[in-house]
Amino acid sequence: MLKGSFPVDRLLGRKTPFYFYDLPLLDRTLDVVRQQLEGHPSWQVHYAVKANAHPEILRRIAAAGYGADCVSGGEVERAVRAGFPPESIVYAGVGKSDDEIRLAMKHGIGRFNVESVAELEVIEEIAGSEGRVVPVSLRVNPDIGAHTHANITTGLAENKFGIHHSMLEEALREAVELPHIRFCGLHFHIGSQILDMSDFVALCNRINVLTDQLERHRLPVGDLNVGGGLGINYEHPNHLPVADFKSYFETFARHLHVRPGQAVHFELGRSLVAPCGTLMTRVLYVKQGLTRQFAIVDASMTELIRPALYHAYHRIENLTSDEPEELYDVVGPVCESSDVFAKGVSLDACRRGDLLAIRSTGAYGESMASCYNSRPLPGSFLFE
Ligand code: LLP
Repeated sequence: MLKGSFPVDRLLGRKTPFYFYDLPLLDRTLDVVRQQLEGHPSWQVHYAVKANAHPEILRRIAAAGYGADCVSGGEVERAVRAGFPPESIVYAGVGKSDDEIRLAMKHGIGRFNVESVAELEVIEEIAGSEGRVVPVSLRVNPDIGAHTHANITTGLAENKFGIHHSMLEEALREAVELPHIRFCGLHFHIGSQILDMSDFVALCNRINVLTDQLERHRLPVGDLNVGGGLGINYEHPNHLPVADFKSYFETFARHLHVRPGQAVHFELGRSLVAPCGTLMTRVLYVKQGLTRQFAIVDASMTELIRPALYHAYHRIENLTSDEPEELYDVVGPVCESSDVFAKGVSLDACRRGDLLAIRSTGAYGESMASCYNSRPLPGSFLFE
């Protein structure tokens, strides 16, 4: 039986819950991005490892020639182990510990994206004590809102990320004076799951104004890292399995003023890996409540926290039933009322043992899994 694009027969004997990764779809996605980058030799995409750090996914993305965007020492180590060349690794994070800074220096990563003057000074001190000069970009808080969930915007003045654009000049003057810092550029990131390209246009406009200003003051700008954030279509994973990379890259090609010789870096996470992942779970019980019918499944917020944390929508399909549809609240077994995947969704009628597919969970699914309630971490099935 092959329901939708899933090889159900190969999945039935497996212990649930687990993540199913459609690797041909990942490869196809990487290929679409590669095509969009043709003609832009100074553009480079660094995969945001936080979205999914599965070793095989990292290995494929590294083998396809991408760089990596990391936010912890652990991610830097994983990225290096998966084959990303250290010089293609960029490292952001508001709270890099001294040990993490040393580790990243030891690996010779390509760029520290520094988020405060305090951090800049610590990196200078550590680099000095080790007799190194390290490549640094300054992360700018551009104070730009993105039309996405409040918890995943990062570019507003109230957010903890980056150096406010009004204070950039002062920080930059300091950075260029430090002997163990090699100033290389500016870094931005405004949020995630962004589908409205006008948000990226606003980012480009902000960058253009800032770089003009810095140049007028004879300060170097270096290269530009515009972050990540491109969203995917969670409603229609079967019809639109590849994000709209064309509109995304065209927006930057059209609106970002790039100086000759200036490199442009992108940090895409979700758009590369979300569609290729599916959380597979079995129905444990169907329970009739007073007003609602519950499909109680063996996956929970510990395998996929996005619905509980952000009320995120993930399409759910019953892979083993062709019975007429009924309405369900699909809930997990964890002792939290928010352990709910969906409310009032229509599914082919569920029976105990049915296999449900929770779609588009390749990004921020497995990577955000926890052991709450002493549950084991989910396994995975790599579909080649
Ligand atoms: N660069 C920086 C500096 C970031 O903070 C992020 C994501 C990215 C790149 C990658 O963004 P993407 O292309 O994946 O949108 N857990 C949330 C998403 C958090 C995103 C955090 N930063 C979720 O499940 O929706």
